[in-house]
Amino acid sequence: LLLATGARPRILPVPGAELGGVHYLRVIEDTLAIRERVPDGGTVLIVGGGWIGLEAAAGLRKLGAEVVVVEAAPQLCGRVLTPELGQWMLELHRSHGVDVRLETGVESFQGGGGLERAVLGDGRVIDASLAIVGIGVVPNAELAEAAGLDVDNGIVVDEFARTSDPDIFAAGDVANHFNPRLSRPVRLESWENAQNQPIAAAKAMLDKGEPYADVPWFWSDQYDVNIQLTGLPRDWDATATRGDPAA
Ligand code: APR
Repeated sequence: LLLATGARPRILPVPGAELGGVHYLRVIEDTLAIRERVPDGGTVLIVGGGWIGLEAAAGLRKLGAEVVVVEAAPQLCGRVLTPELGQWMLELHRSHGVDVRLETGVESFQGGGGLERAVLGDGRVIDASLAIVGIGVVPNAELAEAAGLDVDNGIVVDEFARTSDPDIFAAGDVANHFNPRLSRPVRLESWENAQNQPIAAAKAMLDKGEPYADVPWFWSDQYDVNIQLTGLPRDWDATATRGDPAA
């Protein structure tokens, strides 16, 4: 048995979050619904300055919308970027006219029929008929938990994608796997891992397993920039910069 149940968007628990016009972005239907609602010249509010929020911000600027991003943390993409790169991303988005506000969030969404405005943590009010919430994902591990498998930030698996039950495997966003190259467990949320870990799992299920030890790799397209990350640094001694970051 292979569990490949993925992850779902984390829900923002604030008043008014059920109003029409408050969207999450996970599947193609979400994208199509958002596209229908992009206001002509109006403002779109994005909650969360991670990958989803920033890719949405770049796409919406290209469509001509005004964009406000509110991020709870003091830097953008703090889950995977160093402070220097977070600052670089901030400058990239501000230079494209995005109003990025750090260390704040949404207190409430308000409106009659649908979304009309949002009240931020600092009391300011943003008039917007469309909001996109991208505040991370939650692994769909409930089935595994109910079955008594080890679950800790996703379904715990070894380097062969095997769970605590030797006949059950798990792979993809839901799997927290031991990566022998990094010598620690990691749960990756990326296209690359969603493709390659199931391949490793399938081989292990056929008794042809090899340890899954890929170096994590991520990419993101924002405006005319292609950003690539390899590895998953948790801490570091020094930062080296080559070339001109602005270029
Ligand atoms: N208000 C504002 N910001 C918040 C809040 C909140 N209540 N809660 C969390 N955040 C911020 C986090 O600090 C973080 O910067 O939201 C951001 C979430 O970023 P990610 O963890 O990268 O999640 P997200 O952007 O939603 O992406 C979800 O899609 O593309 C994939 O790799 C991505 O798997 C990830 C998924």
